[in-house]
Amino acid sequence: MATTPAPKTFRVKSFGCQMNVYDGERMSELLAADGMSPALEGEDADLVVLNTCHIREKATEKVYSDIGRLRREDGSAPLIAVAGCVAQAEGEEIMSRAPSVKVVVGPQSYHRLPEMVADAAAGKRATETDMPAEAKFAALPKRRKSAPTAFLTVQEGCDKFCTYCVVPYTRGAEISRPFADLVEEAKLLVAGGAREITLLGQNVNAWTGEDDKGRSIGLDGLARVLAADPDLKRIRYTTSHPNDMTDGLIAAHGELEKLMPFLHLPVQAGSDRVLKAMNRSHTADSYLKLLERIRAARPDIALSGDFIVGFPGETTSEFEETLHLVDAVGYAQAFSFKYSARPGTPAATMPDHVPAVVMDERLQRLQAALNRDQLAFNQASVRKTCEVLVERKGKHPGQWLGKSPWLQSVHFTGEAEIGQIVTVKLVEAGPNSIAGQLV
Ligand code: 5AD
Ligand code: SF4
Repeated sequence: MATTPAPKTFRVKSFGCQMNVYDGERMSELLAADGMSPALEGEDADLVVLNTCHIREKATEKVYSDIGRLRREDGSAPLIAVAGCVAQAEGEEIMSRAPSVKVVVGPQSYHRLPEMVADAAAGKRATETDMPAEAKFAALPKRRKSAPTAFLTVQEGCDKFCTYCVVPYTRGAEISRPFADLVEEAKLLVAGGAREITLLGQNVNAWTGEDDKGRSIGLDGLARVLAADPDLKRIRYTTSHPNDMTDGLIAAHGELEKLMPFLHLPVQAGSDRVLKAMNRSHTADSYLKLLERIRAARPDIALSGDFIVGFPGETTSEFEETLHLVDAVGYAQAFSFKYSARPGTPAATMPDHVPAVVMDERLQRLQAALNRDQLAFNQASVRKTCEVLVERKGKHPGQWLGKSPWLQSVHFTGEAEIGQIVTVKLVEAGPNSIAGQLV
């Protein structure tokens, strides 16, 4: 491979989950600390990092089409690095299938990105997909400026092994970042301007650690410590597994004012046979009972979930049990997907894969129900007054965009500034946003 000039500008494109968004921010900070600058809007970057997602099939194909699209009109291409879960799972295949990719780096090794980019510019393609237990986080530069809302990865990996899912293979075993590191990173984020922090993890509510007195604590304990910072106004967390919703965390929803009344708690399906085949280790009923306890602690909590339709062997009546569960819960928002067979997962070799047309039809029925509930949830907010954290300017002059405590997007006009918490009366609801008036 020929040498190329060392890249001066970069762009990081993140796909998939919020943890990838966090990793993408950390990679940007790392490249900036190494002396590169982010490419301006519309400007060609010397280095493009594709921070990929492997959770569903289309995501992988998207990476290859993105690589193709990076080719410039004169036939040249930027230096391309593939990071994230596709890099972890298919690093070698990418290296042989896409010669324009010079760096492949997995989610546990991206602290090595600058040296790998330098190697690549010097003519040496490099792959790094080890999953060392040693802390990548310690090797990253300290956080500086933040938006009013910031992500903080507190936990990585998954030990649950749902039979459809690649995460336990691409992100590895569950690990919790140490308490002291998280407290320090949160402080820096708040000092940089963050007013809301979303704690992230593939199984965020499985986070455990030891506080400064050596006591063993869970996510609720961490949230309580972070909430003591007067400049931090809001705390959220995602994604949670039903089995890790501890009594302490449920209680915290009733006690901790800064813990926002919103919970993303995936259920995936409503049929107990399907849930068992998915290795979910909860039933529809145990999930509903759990929600009852959470609602007892925080009656106004907004619920969100993930759903998969067309898991191998799912019958029409089993799918309809998912619809019944949706009716029983009344989700404020949700994500729903067609089952996608992932190589190496147990479900991929299960019998009776559901035909694509059947999956399409089930997804449409499910999404119609979820959209109906989302609109109903937003409409039920109308005439209420709530606090909105202002995140950015809207499209129209004088317009501002922010979030309600229940994670609804709210827009309003008037005197405000980014990072401020304002009181807004909600006046008109659509499926995806609510119009408000400053009070
Ligand atoms: N097919 C479809 N959806 C999947 N998810 C995870 N793996 C698959 C798969 N193989 C969905 C789950 C999970 C969300 C992040 O992605 O609903 O909660
Ligand atoms: Fe995947 Fe299940 Fe782990 Fe979530 S809990 S990351 S769906 S294996």
